[in-house]
Amino acid sequence: MWVQLYLSLSLLKESSNVKLGLKKVHLHICLIAAALLVMAFCGCSYGLSREGGQKEGVSSIIGVSQANMREEWRVALIEELRQETASSEDIQIITADATGDVDKQMQDIDNLLGYGIDLLIISPCDEKELVGKIKEVYDSGIPVIVMDRSVEGFDYTLYIGPDNEVIGQQAGLYVAELLGDKGGNVIELAGRPSSVQGSERLMGFREVLSEHDNIEIHRLNIGAESKDAAYDMVISAKGVIQSSDVVFAYSDNMALGVCEAVRDLGLDGKVVIVDCDGFKGADEGIDLVKRGRLKATVSCPIGGKEAIDYALSILGNESGVPKQVILRSNLITADNVQESLRKMDAATIDDGRTLKVGYSQVGSESNWRIANTRSIEDAAKKFNIDLHIENADQSQEKQFEAIRTFIAEKVDVIVVSPVVETGWDEVLREAKAAGIPVIMSDRNVTVENTEENLTTTYLGADFIEEGRRAMRWVRDNVKKDGDKQSIMEIMGNEGASPTVERSKGFREILSETPGYYISYSEYGDFTYEGGREVVRKYLESNEWDIDIIFSHNDDMALGAIAELKAHGIKPDEDVKIISVDATREAFESMIRKELSCAVECNPIFGDQLMKAVRDLCCGKQMPFRIITDEKIYDQDMAEDYINKRAY
Ligand code: AHR
Repeated sequence: MWVQLYLSLSLLKESSNVKLGLKKVHLHICLIAAALLVMAFCGCSYGLSREGGQKEGVSSIIGVSQANMREEWRVALIEELRQETASSEDIQIITADATGDVDKQMQDIDNLLGYGIDLLIISPCDEKELVGKIKEVYDSGIPVIVMDRSVEGFDYTLYIGPDNEVIGQQAGLYVAELLGDKGGNVIELAGRPSSVQGSERLMGFREVLSEHDNIEIHRLNIGAESKDAAYDMVISAKGVIQSSDVVFAYSDNMALGVCEAVRDLGLDGKVVIVDCDGFKGADEGIDLVKRGRLKATVSCPIGGKEAIDYALSILGNESGVPKQVILRSNLITADNVQESLRKMDAATIDDGRTLKVGYSQVGSESNWRIANTRSIEDAAKKFNIDLHIENADQSQEKQFEAIRTFIAEKVDVIVVSPVVETGWDEVLREAKAAGIPVIMSDRNVTVENTEENLTTTYLGADFIEEGRRAMRWVRDNVKKDGDKQSIMEIMGNEGASPTVERSKGFREILSETPGYYISYSEYGDFTYEGGREVVRKYLESNEWDIDIIFSHNDDMALGAIAELKAHGIKPDEDVKIISVDATREAFESMIRKELSCAVECNPIFGDQLMKAVRDLCCGKQMPFRIITDEKIYDQDMAEDYINKRAY
């Protein structure tokens, strides 16, 4: 009863102006304290409060632990969560402001748990220090959505956040294009030095502009992120501002201060202002673009809408929930501001009609691929999708042909799992011209100009992270004894994104780990025979002197193992073998004590893909990337997990 009283009061509080964040949180804390006192008085326990929280129509309580309510976008996130749940009788949200204090955030989480929350949304103050607490909640069976800053490991349900470096790059690309061959002077405003979001945006911005010799960048350190601090800085740096062409601010707040200062200095129209955030609302980025005060803003959804959408799917035990969703940011200028607003406000209702989808599958080179195709076919039936799937047998030409057939068939969506990363621009432009959106599945492409938006989203694994995980396992488990440990790398097919990115991630950790080096690296094309061939060729001209094999997939690792055994070399004993995919065959090999470790690459993402197809067709904003859930397994875990393998 008392929890219900608290919840009712909390609901009232939620409907008040969220910008009064601190006052609200104090009220919130008072309410918690009052409810606790009354509960203690009545002899109630936390166990009972969970029951109470679900009474009278409220079927789910979502606890929101916010890192702080100082930053504008965090306030906006709470507001968005509130708006998204306001009309639902079933969902109750309870928020807590950690005021930037890790200990307080841990306490807030305990308090939220005490109120019987069914799901936790957390934007952590410090992603490292809160890993343990997040794991504790997740292990207790309460789903956890981590926002804004991802935590290491796998112990959370879903991560949703932007790619701040990409946001900065988008702003940089726009400024470079604006200045053109003439070049010019650019001022960048740096806010709080501790702002990770700000530093990442500035880094992306610099990355792009530093490639242009005709652009000079000067940094003004404000030391704060407020409108007033930006205003004062611009006024006091009048001379520098006067001789600049562009001022870049990485948040709407700072940009508003810059706009006002530039106007007061009489420099309107002379100095161009560009920012990031692109929030909606009076005096925010989009409004400033509409009023001609800002030349452009790079908007980034703050993720509240997505968080509630996924929270409902998680609470409803729906399939198709990924591990990570990287939100899409868009460049907004006077030319597309109306259209962007229309898209943001458009209702997204799936009418349930059968959708026609053309899928160009790379081939059937591995057990992983066979499981992946099966998962996609099964999911299509479930999601009412008429699927036309074409197997390209590793040929890019065949993939071009398939895509052109899908265009002629006027499918609703084209999905491609590309054999290699490059060379797709032309055919993707044809799909775009025909008005057919393209989703990249499993593997991604690199295009000449990202601003062309030739693809809508990427759904699949984080291959770079898989490479990192493989080398981290080596670092932690294969100890060097004296000499440097030599590594043979058996790569996938040349130019494929898993090949390029697994190599990159592996080398990233290798470069910071002395005592190991790659002595031999060869392509095995992701096939059993390919892996076998790499080892055979090596042994033709070398004595076996390899300590570790890193294979880009299981099939190649199993082929390599067969060849090693044929030469009397004992896998795992004479040479440690780490591969990627974690298929059932890999588990069997680990149980036989041959394969040493398998980094998971999950092919069972048909449901997630078909959900993305339906979302796309009903007009939802697609994230940049949707990343699947993956773990890492070694021989110690193999027996326990083999029967749970779905592929
Ligand atoms: O693109 C995913 C990779 O392709 C898998 O790791 C491999 O087995 C497959 O052939």
